[in-house]
Amino acid sequence: MSDAPLLEVRDLRTWFELRQWGFLRVGSVRAVDGVSFELARGEAVAFVGESGCGKSSLARTLLGLHRPSGGEVVFEGQDVAGLAGAALKRYRARVGYVQQDPYGALPPFMNVRRLLAEPLIVHGVMDRAERERRIRAVLEEVRLAPEEVLHKFPHMLSGGQQQRVVIARALILAPHLIIADEPVSMLDASVRVEILSLLRQIQRERELTLAFITHDLATVRHFAERLFVMYAGRIVEQAPVDELLDHPLHPYTQALLAAIADPDADNASRQREIPPGEPPSLVKPPAGCRFHPRCPHAIAGHCDRDEPPMLAPRPGHGVACWLHE
Ligand SMILES: Nc1ncnc2c1ncn2[C@@H]1O[C@H](COP(=O)(O)OP(=O)(O)OP(=O)(O)O)[C@@H](O)[C@H]1O
Ligand code: SF4
Ligand SMILES: [Mg+2]
Repeated sequence: MSDAPLLEVRDLRTWFELRQWGFLRVGSVRAVDGVSFELARGEAVAFVGESGCGKSSLARTLLGLHRPSGGEVVFEGQDVAGLAGAALKRYRARVGYVQQDPYGALPPFMNVRRLLAEPLIVHGVMDRAERERRIRAVLEEVRLAPEEVLHKFPHMLSGGQQQRVVIARALILAPHLIIADEPVSMLDASVRVEILSLLRQIQRERELTLAFITHDLATVRHFAERLFVMYAGRIVEQAPVDELLDHPLHPYTQALLAAIADPDADNASRQREIPPGEPPSLVKPPAGCRFHPRCPHAIAGHCDRDEPPMLAPRPGHGVACWLHE
């Protein structure tokens, strides 16, 4: 297996134009604004950050669903940022997508057999018996009995079963990377761990790279090896998951973790509310460190003017904060 990263993302930007009356450009939402990281083959990573910080925009850009406004996305050595047509189709077969809402991800008029056959047909697997063999194998992999579900339509399945079908659909073209955007947030608490454990197990067995987005810092240790913390369109901290959770360096990460330290708190909803203060505008982000208006440690005249680069105060641990210069 090659040591080269599976995915290299450099200074990626995804800006959405804001228009008035449909034509007058009045600014841009800088949803992803200068993001750089690498993913190794076979690793599982997670992205965390409060609502609106750009996680889904990043995921959708990596999937080729948004065209980047700048920067590079290099996948298996090929720059995929501007791909279109057949080349984009080939790339999309290498990257599976598991989205938040399984019901919304599954066309309601297709039964499970058709749902799983469709990507194979689109990518040229024309032999019916071969398709059937692959469909049954992938259903068994996601722990669904083929005979029980093949003929069912999405509304006949439970939320957990629907998400297993979404995962099967993401796996059927044998991707090298799976991007899962809050894959369990719409499911009952009782099946969340089950689905995350399944994803992690398949990722290990197939030696896939798994990048998932979560709000749940309390369980992320079990499902990821590395963690990226996003704030206002940027990565502000990154490290192996134990290192990051045991030694959070960025004041924003510290605030996120403080919110889950209270055992009585409803983690998910509290995480969306903290730290105190409003998330910054992505149209006119604050100068200097974007966190400075909310940061209890902000250094006047420095943090509000100078943007902190990604520093490495501990081995393998990156943080964009002047306190660690
Ligand atoms: N297609 C789009 N057009 C215009 N603005 C968009 C588009 N998609 C996202 N945005 C804006 O980009 C910003 C980041 O949104 P995004 O969905 O990436 O956040 P998120 O971190 O995934 O949030 P959440 O945790 O709530 O899912 C938001 O301000 C959002 O309104
Ligand atoms: S750079 Fe300054 S404002 Fe930003 S997180 Fe660090 S101390 Fe706070
Ligand atoms: Mg999102």
